[in-house]
Amino acid sequence: MRILGIESSCDETSAAVLTLQDGRPSLDSLVILSQDVHKIFGGVVPELASRAHLRVIAPVVDQALAEAGLDVTGLDGIAVTAGPGLIGALLVGLMYGKTMAWQHGLPLYGVHHLEGHLFAPTLEHPDLAPPFVALLVSGGHTMLIEARDWGDYRLLGQTRDDAAGEAFDKVAALLGLGYPGGPRLEQLAHEGLPGRFRFPRPMLDAEGADRHAFSFSGLKTAVLRAVQQSDNLDRDRADLARGFQDAAIDVMVGKAVQALEETGHSTLVLGGGVACNRTLAGRMRERVDGFARVYVASPRLNTDNAAMIAAAGAWHLARGDRSDWALEPKDNLPFPGLVMDRQTEPATR
Ligand code: KG4
Ligand code: ZN
Repeated sequence: MRILGIESSCDETSAAVLTLQDGRPSLDSLVILSQDVHKIFGGVVPELASRAHLRVIAPVVDQALAEAGLDVTGLDGIAVTAGPGLIGALLVGLMYGKTMAWQHGLPLYGVHHLEGHLFAPTLEHPDLAPPFVALLVSGGHTMLIEARDWGDYRLLGQTRDDAAGEAFDKVAALLGLGYPGGPRLEQLAHEGLPGRFRFPRPMLDAEGADRHAFSFSGLKTAVLRAVQQSDNLDRDRADLARGFQDAAIDVMVGKAVQALEETGHSTLVLGGGVACNRTLAGRMRERVDGFARVYVASPRLNTDNAAMIAAAGAWHLARGDRSDWALEPKDNLPFPGLVMDRQTEPATR
């Protein structure tokens, strides 16, 4: 089965062709066009993102088909990101994919962006199989999930405020590192002294219903105060970056390890843009050494891309899931197959 994947939820226009054979995905092509325009503004400007998607969606899809050596008649289905994301940006990819599917009589499936991130490591690690614990850390989400099977997920915990990637980006902005800040902050942290700035590890020791929850906004405020108190930011910048990154990573590793211990699973999937952080992946591997294996895709497949959307969509299409022609993008699209963990559900709900 050959699937075209399309992703346009934020500031990457991407298309990919994937072959699914005997349940195993293999990538035929992947094109990712990142929108540079947002660098001028220090963050993604939704209207500009939509317009940039509109300009390039057709050539990006054509290029992915050409690199795979086929035209649309060689496809068996189309998978397109349906949410969550910027609504105007999602609309461009979704309408393009939907129109192609309708025009050529192809089955269509609207993919949840985070389920895409969950499938990303399967593209390089065909042996990856549930059950596992997944930590999905991106610019918009932070989720700890137990995957009992593909399509059967339990939400253990998520962030109460900022997403992990958002915290990296905001702290990078405080340190004057520009946008997008996550990769630059990681680079600078390598040069920083560990322990010179000791920031809080929010929610790390939380118990009961809060034990799997995250909160990054207090950590960001602690860095802001340290920046304001610094009399020489050029001297302190790398040490501040190191202090922040160590705190954020301690929390992510601690929560993932606890979830592995509680569920008894021996596989951890690390996904989303923040999973590009090598220090995070390295520390995770050190901590679970001997009792669990960590699966993380390479950076090109961890940041937003259509290959992961094609992988998740191919799994759904193969088992007969279809979106109808009324498919619309949704910012609050429910994660298919995800149930709230009753134990971690806040008492007020
Ligand atoms: O998954 P993604 O590409 O887009 C969303 O779905 O949000 O994630 C982007 C996020 C940004 O916040 C970016 O700063 C962060 O991933 N990121 C990193 C690194 N590379 C990307 N954060 C920390 N360290 C990195 N090396
Ligand atoms: Zn993403």
